[in-house]
Amino acid sequence: MAKIIDGKAVAVKIREEARTRTAALQARGVRPCLAVVLAGEDPASLSYVAAKEKALAGAGMASREFRLPAGVAEAELLGVINALNADETVHGILVQLPLPSGIREKTVISAVDPAKDVDGFHPVSVGNMVLGGKGFLPCTPHGVLVLLREEGIPTDGARVVILGRSNIVGKPLACLLSRREVNATVTLCHTGTRNPGLYTREADILIAAAGRPGLVSAGMVKEGAAVIDVGVNRLADPGSKKGYRLSGDVDYGPVAEKAGWITPVPGGVGPMTVAMLLLNVVQAAEDAANAADAGAGARAAAVRYD
Ligand code: GUN
Repeated sequence: MAKIIDGKAVAVKIREEARTRTAALQARGVRPCLAVVLAGEDPASLSYVAAKEKALAGAGMASREFRLPAGVAEAELLGVINALNADETVHGILVQLPLPSGIREKTVISAVDPAKDVDGFHPVSVGNMVLGGKGFLPCTPHGVLVLLREEGIPTDGARVVILGRSNIVGKPLACLLSRREVNATVTLCHTGTRNPGLYTREADILIAAAGRPGLVSAGMVKEGAAVIDVGVNRLADPGSKKGYRLSGDVDYGPVAEKAGWITPVPGGVGPMTVAMLLLNVVQAAEDAANAADAGAGARAAAVRYD
């Protein structure tokens, strides 16, 4: 029977760190602030945004929400982002995805100042991630890395198989897990992969991030493997209060009997995504405060030596 990885418990520790760093910034007169831009009324996006804002408040940070109608013009959305880029009281900008049809995701993501790109989606952030430069890491893949580390799941030389090649999860995970300090051998499977079970059955660590409930059956899993379920699928459930229930991509019960570790949905990777976002926001605010102090110091020095 697998050990259940408690993402909530790990996330609590990280949120505590975010709170401590926020308090230190507040002592310097800076309150970290995230601007959340939400276009349209996608129910899942609304609930993700609410969870992020609640977590920010819990850590002592501020958030400002910018709600735009689903029919918003791309130019108007870009105008909002440009204003937030210029606003010194805003340290991070998060544009909730997916965007309504007709709005170009790449154009919008590229409009965010990389110094405020706490999602880590901007091409400059992605470039820094690939090349090992300084920049924000995307929250879900970074959260998965931290979960593996905190659980003591060995990655050095491990065979990792990722299901799903999204820009938000699969591709960045492949990049991060193959870094020298993590040292895994990564296989990225996707909808074009013939017989994915051939790969998954060899995996020491199997990461499901395809957004397809029931994708990973017990027959696809190696005995004792770590199974990380990034899927968040809403399945209709008329008997429940909300009318749906959440399910990952993994056939949880049977896979839990065979795996060595498993993340539940909810309560596994999800809380880590939010926790890593908090760290990115506090980091962005620290960077801005340090740059402002350095600027003030340089100006004072210039006055002294004039
Ligand atoms: N949509 C689903 N996941 C994410 C995320 O991590 N960030 C943003 N901005 N949108 C998302």
